[in-house]
Amino acid sequence: MFADMRQRLGLCAVVAAMGLGVTGCKEPTGPEREISGERLFFQHCARCHGIDGKGLPDVSGVRDLTSAQYMDGLTNDQVRRTIQRGKPPNMPAFGRQFAEPSLEVLVAYVRSLSSKPSEPPPQKTEQPQP
Ligand code: HEC
Repeated sequence: MFADMRQRLGLCAVVAAMGLGVTGCKEPTGPEREISGERLFFQHCARCHGIDGKGLPDVSGVRDLTSAQYMDGLTNDQVRRTIQRGKPPNMPAFGRQFAEPSLEVLVAYVRSLSSKPSEPPPQKTEQPQP
């Protein structure tokens, strides 16, 4: 019994050391933390591309990622490759920094920057009843 407890405590320590111990000794349950394209972009891309994706004026050659005209010329695959391989000299390569699910979410987020409707959607107006 004591041996069993010691084992458990040992396991707890390991789990805690790995930074997973916030919920005590329980197995993590529930869905994993959601991947947010917005947060990834904010953390890794916004320093050059700006939070809105339009690109900061002091980054030479940066592209306006909100321009549908420009972005429509790129496939999702090309965007993905740009992120992984970069575009010398100014767009850095992120290599394998993003695991596949994150990369996908990030590409989708970049895509969404240029596909947001530029005009508000038409208002639904109540038709007067005859
Ligand atoms: C250090 C500054 C910098 C950072 C950080 C950066 N970019 Fe870029 N990015 C650039 C520049 C500069 C260009 C223009 C490159 C060119 O066309 O030669 C560019 C171009 C692009 C393009 C257009 C690619 C094309 O084929 O024309 C995409 C998409 C892009 N970046 C996405 C991202 C994403 C997503 C991130 C974050 C993971 C990111 N960038 C981080 C500087 C940066």
